[in-house]
Amino acid sequence: MKESVLRVHHWTDTLFSFVTTRDPGFRFASGQFTMMGLEVEGRPLLRAYSMVSAHYEDHLEFLSIKVPGGPLTSRLQHLKEGDQVLVSKKATGTLVLKHLLPGKNLYMLSTGTGLAPFLSLVKDPEMYEQFDRVILTHTCRRAEELAYHDLFLHELPHNEFFGELVKQKLTYYPSVTREDFRNTGRITDLIRSEKLFNDVGLPPLNPETDRVMLCGSPGMLADLTTMLEERGFREGTPGEAGHYVTEKAFAER
Ligand code: A2P
Repeated sequence: MKESVLRVHHWTDTLFSFVTTRDPGFRFASGQFTMMGLEVEGRPLLRAYSMVSAHYEDHLEFLSIKVPGGPLTSRLQHLKEGDQVLVSKKATGTLVLKHLLPGKNLYMLSTGTGLAPFLSLVKDPEMYEQFDRVILTHTCRRAEELAYHDLFLHELPHNEFFGELVKQKLTYYPSVTREDFRNTGRITDLIRSEKLFNDVGLPPLNPETDRVMLCGSPGMLADLTTMLEERGFREGTPGEAGHYVTEKAFAER
């Protein structure tokens, strides 16, 4: 399907997001991704992109890095209002609520553009119905890369439909690894040292009560998966719900 670009926002020199029209027939669950891209020399050039927009919104939104020499992102970064992008008819992905067993606390752990799927989830009232607390961590090298920072701090808590649920249940926990910030350090270290849990006022990770969604670089996923498995967490699949689910963040080579 061809969709028109409505708005583009550049967060940093290497990170941008954009909003497009949405075909009313395109359906997705919060946390899923689709294939999106451009027509290049008459052929579709598509990559997997998570929807940042909520499943009930009448537009689509995507978050992207700009990879120097990346076949798609080196072109996509020049998008402007009125341009067309290609969006597949189907959505898929593992970071969905139905792949998780019932639990008390939901941890959504992200690095870089791994934040994207969690943006549609934090706008889904169903997520707040299923969990008492939702902790969303976003770790980047530098503070300016903490995209949507203001959405968490200012907009979501004032949403007319679910702002109260956000205030009661959602904790946004940004951290930065290569410069000074109010929270610093890799998420793996923040979990190991238990600083994350002390800061949010919850006990350390426990498969009886906690569910985890991971989205980040292959290294981050490998390290966190090992840590979760050591703590007795089992991965959820489409066939059998589990304690955690994972997906690689978008990274064009
Ligand atoms: P660091 O600065 O210590 O490498 P990137 O831009 O390379 O994808 O990294 C995004 C964020 O993810 C950075 O803050 C980076 O920290 C962190 N990170 C990279 N590798 C891992 C890992 N194996 N486990 C946890 N965090 C990681």
